[in-house]
Amino acid sequence: MLILGIETSCDETSAAIVSGAKEIRANVVLSQVAQHLPYGGVVPEIAARAHIDQLDAVIAKALDEAGAAFSDLDAIAATGGPGLIGGVIVGVMTGKALASVLSKPFIAVNHLEGHALTVRLTQDIPFPFLLLLVSGGHCQFLAVEGVGRYKKLGGTVDDALGEAFDKTAKMLGLDYPGGPAVEKLAKTGNPRAYVFPVPMKGRPGCDFSFSGLKTAVRQQIIALGQAPSDAQKSDICASFQYAVAESVCDRAHHALATFQAQHPLAKHLVLAGGVAANQYLRGQLAGIVESYGMKLAAPPMALCTDNAAMIAWAGLERFKLGMTDTLDFEPRARWPLA
Ligand code: KG4
Ligand code: ZN
Repeated sequence: MLILGIETSCDETSAAIVSGAKEIRANVVLSQVAQHLPYGGVVPEIAARAHIDQLDAVIAKALDEAGAAFSDLDAIAATGGPGLIGGVIVGVMTGKALASVLSKPFIAVNHLEGHALTVRLTQDIPFPFLLLLVSGGHCQFLAVEGVGRYKKLGGTVDDALGEAFDKTAKMLGLDYPGGPAVEKLAKTGNPRAYVFPVPMKGRPGCDFSFSGLKTAVRQQIIALGQAPSDAQKSDICASFQYAVAESVCDRAHHALATFQAQHPLAKHLVLAGGVAANQYLRGQLAGIVESYGMKLAAPPMALCTDNAAMIAWAGLERFKLGMTDTLDFEPRARWPLA
């Protein structure tokens, strides 16, 4: 079985071919970072136009790398949302056009479900599992009970975690996307140099909040009285990342306790989304998860940030269960998982 996946919801134009035997036969990811860099963030109109310009060639390259022809495909899966609507429309229309011409099933994949299920492409992780989804636009705990079956346990009341990394990076004059830049500088900084508040620490439930931490970082930069030196930047990144990890670990305690009460036999907390690429966060979280007799699982680094292999895989999981869509599926800017 071969599934073509298409991902165009943000600033990566991507196409992938994944097989029923869990082989990633191709995963072509064309980043638009260079086009958005001068603006310090993703410009939706530039993103949509770049997807139009590049997607056909990216799909052709994926087929070529996989050594497959259109006729070898069993179904076409495309991100149907949530995301920047211009880009989502480009991917959905391309997917539908291919499905229509080839007379193959079309599957509209929720981008968040792509992140949620990717770990099952590279590891044997059974349902149910607890998911911590942390990306540029989302930050939530979900109980994943099966394909298409999600229950939200908590989420951010303001900024997403990736957004907090990106905004901190911007305040420090680091390049977009900020997460990798902050993590890199934090490696040489002192996490105790500045004492930032640990958001939501000790509060009941498992919601998140990052806007207060962002404000504290801004006030600290202002308090320096001059542009931060390289050493100060590293210290701010390390101290910010430390507060983030403390907050996520505190919230994870509550989420794990709640989830375990509902699913006593479940074994995994899965960390997914772009921020799951953060090694420091993975390390800090692993200890907490183990104290609950569970294991932390995360996709390989390259599959944490946006890519089409995750869309092809989620499409494949859906296809196997007969969960296909019709050609009147409407692209969605917003599409909650739960
Ligand atoms: O999942 P993703 O690629 O796109 C969305 O669906 O949002 O996530 C992108 C987010 C960005 O905010 C980026 O700064 C963050 O993930 N990110 C990281 C790291 N790598 C990417 N955040 C912290 N540490 C990283 N190493
Ligand atoms: Zn994403």
